[in-house]
Amino acid sequence: MSVLRFAIVAAFFLISLFVLCCNSQLTETFYSSSCSNVSDVVRNILQQAQQSDVRIGAKLIRLHFHDCFVDGCDGSILLDNADGIQSEKDAGPNMNSADGFDVVDDIKTALENVCPGVVSCADILALASQISVTLGGGPSWEVSLGRRDSRKANPSGANGDIPSPLESLNNITSKFSAKGLDSTDLVALSGAHTFGKAKCGTFSHRLYNFSNTGNPDPSMDSTYLNTLRLTCPQDGNGTTLANLDYSSPYGFDNNYYTNLQSNRGLLQTDQELFSTSGADTVATVNRFGKSQSEFFNAFVQSMIKMGNISPLTGNNGEIRADCKRVN
Ligand code: HEM
Ligand SMILES: *[C@@H]1O[C@H](CO)[C@@H](O)[C@H](O)[C@H]1NC(C)=O
Ligand SMILES: *[C@@H]1O[C@H](CO)[C@@H](O)[C@H](O)[C@H]1NC(C)=O
Ligand SMILES: *[C@@H]1O[C@H](CO)[C@@H](O)[C@H](O)[C@H]1NC(C)=O
Ligand SMILES: *[C@@H]1O[C@H](CO)[C@@H](O)[C@H](O)[C@H]1NC(C)=O
Repeated sequence: MSVLRFAIVAAFFLISLFVLCCNSQLTETFYSSSCSNVSDVVRNILQQAQQSDVRIGAKLIRLHFHDCFVDGCDGSILLDNADGIQSEKDAGPNMNSADGFDVVDDIKTALENVCPGVVSCADILALASQISVTLGGGPSWEVSLGRRDSRKANPSGANGDIPSPLESLNNITSKFSAKGLDSTDLVALSGAHTFGKAKCGTFSHRLYNFSNTGNPDPSMDSTYLNTLRLTCPQDGNGTTLANLDYSSPYGFDNNYYTNLQSNRGLLQTDQELFSTSGADTVATVNRFGKSQSEFFNAFVQSMIKMGNISPLTGNNGEIRADCKRVN
């Protein structure tokens, strides 16, 4: 009897230990013995890639965001079409838009050379995001690691869960909240629009016929409006690019927020954070606009939170040998 009782207690103890240790938590030291050099390898490839593409950091952090919002940070966005796999790359938010996949492959190749079969593609996106922010002049932080890669993709999840630039603040807030991110996270993470570019097609409705009024978006500064109209003519095909942060397009800083305060946010969903009357996001924009260090601190916390969205850990998923396909 007491042997049975002991066995039951021991089993419970082992199960809870397993749950605590291996089933949920990412750690900053995950590769310290299996691939201690992982950050250096990623940084080297990124620095090389930056020489030919100043936007590469922006592209990669966006991939991490679009990965994490679809079934968690599991590298699903990186999978190409294949037997049984419908790629997320063809989903609305990603098609002709998500980019940087070649550099992810270069990073993967370099890592397979030094520590084969060890570093997941999902972790590559998380590490590349942190290094890109730091290289752009933004904060540095210890990235939580240990994510594993999915064996499936979810294009309908990409269409449903990734926010669109035409949505209302309410809808964007609920899409973030569905991922466990609050309105401070929304404002902080939107600050990634301090670098990178957007196609005219994603915001030109604001320039000419906003909400079918026949007028431009009233929340847009008129000088900024005229500049954007030159970049994006009404009869254009919408593929021309504009800087998301007009005042410091390539640096990672808090100018995104000061732009919003002067009604020079590019996307409708950027400006809504400041121009929606009564919204709690307004005070947060003002706080980050006033203090870059408050923005940086909040951004780091929110990136860690976003990077923690339902990762595959333990024996779930796999470590892909090629980020474009399952093993
Ligand atoms: C809040 C909801 C968000 C919406 C509606 C949104 C929407 C967009 C759109 C429409 C573009 C331009 C795409 C194109 O023209 O091809 C873009 C670019 C970008 N987004 Fe967001 N985004 C959001 C949040 C985020 C978050 C959370 C991050 C990262 C933490 C992020 C990082 C970026 C970056 C860096 C770019 C520039 C990419 C490049 O230069 O290729 N965005 N976003
Ligand atoms: C770590 O990686 C860097 C960049 O690839 C390389 O220069 C360095 O020799 C590596 N160090 C070790 C200990 O492998
Ligand atoms: C907000 O979400 C609701 C429900 O999904 C949808 O019907 C509505 O069109 C969305 N509104 C905007 C402005 O995106
Ligand atoms: C704005 O869009 C609406 C709906 O598509 C259209 O009926 C209207 O004529 C447009 N107005 C202008 C000035 O283009
Ligand atoms: C859009 O217009 C630009 C400039 O006129 C042109 O270079 C580009 O090929 C066009 N793209 C498409 C998809 O038509």
